[in-house]
Amino acid sequence: MPSLNEIRATYLNFFAADGHEKVHSAPLVPQNDPSLLFVNAGMVPFKDYFTGASKPPYPRATSSQKCVRAGGKHNDLDNVGYTARHLTFFEMLGNFSFGDYFKEHAIDRAWKLVTQDFDLDPKRLLVTVYIDDDEAAAIWKKVTGFSDDKIIRIAGSDNFWAMGDSGPCGPCTEIFWDHGDKIAGGPPGSPDEDGDRFVEIWNNVFMQFEKENDQIVRNLPKPSVDTGMGLERMTTVLQGVHSVFETDLFKTLIAASEEATSTKAAGDQAASHRVIADHLRSSSFLIADGVTPSNEGRGYVLRRIMRRAMRHAHLLGAADPLMHRLVPTLVDQMGDAYPELARAQAFIEDTLKQEEVRFRTTLGRGMALFDTAVQGFKPGDMLDGQTAFTLSDTYGFPLDLTQDEARRRGFSVNVDGFEAAMAEQRQRSRENWKGSGQSANAGEWLAVRDRMGPTVFTGYDSIDGSGEVLALMNGGAPVEAAEAGEIVEVLFDTTPFYAESGGQTGDQGTLEWPGGEAEVLDVKKHAGDLHVLSVQITAGRLEMGARVAQQVDADKRMTTRANHSAAHLLHTALKNVLGAAVAQKGQLVDSERARFDFSHGAPVTEDELAAIEAEVNAVIRQNVPAETKLMAPADAIAAGAIALFGEKYGDEVRVLTLGRSLTSDNAPYSVELCGGTHVARTGDIGLFKIVQETGVAAGVRRIEALTGEAARLYLEAQAGVTRKLARDFKIQTPDVLPRVEALQGSVKALEKQVAELKKQLALGGGSGASSAPEEIGGIKLMARVLDGVDGKGLRGVAEDFRKQVGTGVVALIGVTEGKAAVTVAVTSDLTDRVNAADLARAAVIAMGGQGAGGKPDFAQGGAPDGSKAEEGLAAVREALKG
Ligand code: ALA
Repeated sequence: MPSLNEIRATYLNFFAADGHEKVHSAPLVPQNDPSLLFVNAGMVPFKDYFTGASKPPYPRATSSQKCVRAGGKHNDLDNVGYTARHLTFFEMLGNFSFGDYFKEHAIDRAWKLVTQDFDLDPKRLLVTVYIDDDEAAAIWKKVTGFSDDKIIRIAGSDNFWAMGDSGPCGPCTEIFWDHGDKIAGGPPGSPDEDGDRFVEIWNNVFMQFEKENDQIVRNLPKPSVDTGMGLERMTTVLQGVHSVFETDLFKTLIAASEEATSTKAAGDQAASHRVIADHLRSSSFLIADGVTPSNEGRGYVLRRIMRRAMRHAHLLGAADPLMHRLVPTLVDQMGDAYPELARAQAFIEDTLKQEEVRFRTTLGRGMALFDTAVQGFKPGDMLDGQTAFTLSDTYGFPLDLTQDEARRRGFSVNVDGFEAAMAEQRQRSRENWKGSGQSANAGEWLAVRDRMGPTVFTGYDSIDGSGEVLALMNGGAPVEAAEAGEIVEVLFDTTPFYAESGGQTGDQGTLEWPGGEAEVLDVKKHAGDLHVLSVQITAGRLEMGARVAQQVDADKRMTTRANHSAAHLLHTALKNVLGAAVAQKGQLVDSERARFDFSHGAPVTEDELAAIEAEVNAVIRQNVPAETKLMAPADAIAAGAIALFGEKYGDEVRVLTLGRSLTSDNAPYSVELCGGTHVARTGDIGLFKIVQETGVAAGVRRIEALTGEAARLYLEAQAGVTRKLARDFKIQTPDVLPRVEALQGSVKALEKQVAELKKQLALGGGSGASSAPEEIGGIKLMARVLDGVDGKGLRGVAEDFRKQVGTGVVALIGVTEGKAAVTVAVTSDLTDRVNAADLARAAVIAMGGQGAGGKPDFAQGGAPDGSKAEEGLAAVREALKG
C-alpha cells in the first residue's frame, strides 16, 4: 500500500517524465493576488501564465500546492472533524499546460496515471464532462472504452471551474471513484450525488476564458490545462479506506495526539483528535509561511483555527499546552516534502505554545460561562447572541468556536444576535473615539484604504517629491481642509516620508504648497500600508486634493539610515561574538541612536563589547555597497535572511545584505528581511560606538550605540577630559591613568593620617592643650567639643578618655557638617550615681535635638545644630550638679 508521501512522489515524477517542470509549492499567502485570503487551488500561483499577463518560463509544470480553505469563499472549517473528507489544509497536485497540450493529452495522461501507475480498477471509475463538451466526451470514449452512461454530462458550475469572480476559467472534466454500495450516495448528476459513495478524485479544467465580475469577457490567448488532484482523497482510495483520517499520515498524527493526551480517538473523543490533527497541519503551515495569530485578516483566521484545536485539547483533558508538542511528528512526516516546515519548526512550536498559554487563561472561564448559559437547554435550543459576543469579546472565543461547542452538544447559536451585539459595541467605541481627540480610528483608515489603495512610498530612492492629498483627518474625523495652527493627519497618494515600522521611527520634514506650509511631526502606518503624516499647518490652508511638495529632513534621514544599518551589523556581530543563540528582541532606531534588545543570559563583558565594536567597524570600513532585493518570502528565508516575520509578509519582502563575511570569502556579513531605509554603502555609517549595555528584563540585554558624527563627538568629549587632565598635571596623556591611580593611593593614606591626628588632638596629645578633667560635685568630668569627628569617631575617643580618667564622666560633642553628635561615657563605679543616657539627653535637648539612647555607662545621640556645642556641654555640667 503506497504511503501519502509515495503517492505525491509518483504523481510528480510521472509528469516530470512527461516534460513538466517540477515547481515547489508557493506560500499559502498569495503572492500575486491580494483579493485571495489563502492559496486554495494548485493553479493560483500560475494565474498570470493562463491569462497571458506574464510569460511562463516553461510550457508545462507540475506541483503539489499547499492549500487552505478556512475563511473566504471556500470555507471548510466548520465541517472538519465531522465528515470523512473535509480538511482545512490539503495538498492539491496538478499538471499544467500553459498553451501547450490541451484536452487530448490531458485526458490521456490522467487515465494512464490513474489506471496504470495507481492501478485503479476502471470498473469503479466514471467520468463527467461539461454539458456541451462533445470533444472531451469523444476523447474519453476513445481512451477508456466507456459506454455513454459512464461519461456523464453535467451542466452548471460543477463542471465549469472558475478561480473566482475574476480570472481564468473554463469547462472541466472530472474522474470519480465508487467507494461501493456499502456507502450511501448516487453518481454525479443524480439526486443523491451529495452522498459519500462517489467521490471526485481528479479535475481537469480546460482553461479557455477569462472572467471579470462574473462575466466571461474574453478568450484566453492560448487554451490551457489546469489539474487538481486532492492528495488526501486519492490516498484514501489507494489505501482502501473511506475517511482521510484513516490514511497513514493522519493515523500517525492522531496517534501522537492520543499519546500526548493519554486518551483514545474513539467515541466522543474521535472528532477532537481529528480536529487537532487537521488544525495542526493548517496552523503549522500557515505559521511557516509567516502568518501569525492576530485579531484581523489572515492572522485572525489562523487564531480561530488554533483556538478551535486548543479547545478540543481542553475537551480531551490535556493539562498542558498540547499543540506544540505534536509539531515534531508533523515535521517528521511532511518536512521532507516541505523544507520550509522543518526550517520554521522552532518558530511554529513557539507560536503555538504562546497562543495556547494565552488562550488557556480565559478558556476555562469561558467554558464555564457557556455551561451556565446552556443549563437546562434541550437539543435544538439556541444560545443567545449576547453570550456568544461576551465569549468572543471577553474570553477570546471566536464565534465559530462557540458554534462548534454548541453543535457538539446539539445546540445552535443566534448569529444575528451576535452580530447585533458586535455592531452595538463598534458604535460605542466609535463614539468614544470622537470624544477622545485621538488620531483617526482604525476603521476610518481601513475605509480609506479600501477606496484609495496603498500609499506609494518613494522614500527608498528619494527624500522629496510631490503628492496629492487623498485624506485629511482632524481628531479622528475626516475634514475637507485644515487651517494654520491645526495639527492634522494627512494621507498622500505618493510620499517619500517613511512611516514608523520595524523599530525605525517615522520621518520628519516639511510640506509646501501654493500659499501654505506645514511641518511634518511624525509618520505612522495605518491599515497596513497607508503612510499617514501627522502635520502642523504653519501657514495657509491645506485642502483635500491639493498638490503638495514634500521634503524629508535630510540630516535626520541620513543619521537614521546609518543607525538602522548599524543595528543590522550589531545583530550579526552579537551572534558571532556571543553565540548563535542570541535573538533579536526589539530595536529602536532614530536620528539620534540605535538601540538593540536581544536575548542573552548575562551582562556582556568589556572584552566582548570591544570585540563586537571592532567587528562592526571592520565591516563599516569594507565600504561595500548595500544590496536590496525584492523576493518572495520563502525565497528570502531560503537565501539565509534572518526571518523577522513582519507585518508586510505576504507581499514581496525586501532583503537587505550588508558587508562581506570577515571569515569566509564570498559570504555576505548580514542578510535580513527589512522594510527600513538604509545606507548605500557600509562606509556611510562612518563610525560605530557602543555607549551603554544594560539589562531590561530577565534574559534580555540592551545595547545603545552611536554612529557617524554623534559617535565622533562622543569620543571627542571623552578624549577632551583626558587632554584636560594631562594639561593640569603637566604630563603626557598616557601618563594620566597611572597618575590618577597614584593620587587615589595617596589620598587614602592621607585620610588615614588625618583621622589619627584628629584623635590625638582630641586626646589633647597633639596640641599641648590641657587634658586635665574638671570636677563637678566631686565627679571628674572630661568635656570636649571635637570638630570634624562624627559619632563613630567619638566612640573610640570616649573609650580612650574613660581609661585615662580612671573614675569619672566623659562628655564629647563632635561637629560635622554643622550637625552635632553626642557621646557620654561613665566609669562603671559611678553608674549608680550618674546615668550616661540622662546626660546625653540633656546635651541633645540643649542643642535643639530630640533625645538620646544608650545604657547607664554609655549613651549617644544627635542634634541638628552643631553651633550650640558649648551649650550642650554646659547642660551636662548642670545635670551633673544635680
Ligand atoms: N483548479 C481546479 C480545482 O481547484 C483544478 O479543482
